[in-house]
Amino acid sequence: MRRPVFAANWKMHHGPSDARAFLRSFLAHYARRPDRQLLFFPPAISLTTVIDSLKERQDIRVGVQNIHWEDKGAFTGELSAPMARDAGATMALVGHSERRHVFGETDEETASKVAAAVRAGLTPMLCVGEKLEERERGETELVVLRQLRAGIAKVEPHAIGTMMLAYEPVWAIGTGKTATPADASAIHAVIRRELKAILGEKATGIPICYGGSVNRGNAQTLLEASDVDGLLVGGASLDAEGWSSIVRT
Ligand code: 13P
Repeated sequence: MRRPVFAANWKMHHGPSDARAFLRSFLAHYARRPDRQLLFFPPAISLTTVIDSLKERQDIRVGVQNIHWEDKGAFTGELSAPMARDAGATMALVGHSERRHVFGETDEETASKVAAAVRAGLTPMLCVGEKLEERERGETELVVLRQLRAGIAKVEPHAIGTMMLAYEPVWAIGTGKTATPADASAIHAVIRRELKAILGEKATGIPICYGGSVNRGNAQTLLEASDVDGLLVGGASLDAEGWSSIVRT
């Protein structure tokens, strides 16, 4: 059964007190539904609060927004995959466009982070997506495939089969501009084709989420597009009532 993924990336919002209040309200609005996969990516400082608030709700997974590629060491301010796992996270976002374009992370570093997540037993959700100028130059496929191939280069095929992917066109993130369902579908199909070339039919089971200005109004049509297996949502996941209505889509 296809179980759409609804992933909330809170970015740098919701410290522990806000996270606790959010979940109290959200859980009052959202009853367990076996036909959906729910994920939360809170800021690291709120991770244990979120895990604690969800201890009766094992149906909802929690992950970190970023990890370092080393397991430990002198990396002030960083967070390792084994530490995130130890704190109860089961997932990690890797290669989010804000990591790539605000913090200058390279494809090579992204690949090392995917490998670190897999090593620690975290499911990586690898994010790929083109910038506006790349889209205007007609390079969308090229960029997405480059990021995808590089991102999975340091893990074995069986590990790739357990990952999640997210296509987030940079020009659609936080801008109110959304890819049309047809555009999203076309790129998701490119990603799926590439994964199938490596994994064969197993690639059918890898969730590919769309992200970029998803809201209550467009969630349904995006989810109906072929090869769109879920949504990775920033701004519209910050309000408990709004997010609970999106996850009931
Ligand atoms: P918005 O939903 O705010 O556009 O953010 C998308 C995103 O970057 C999720 O990871």
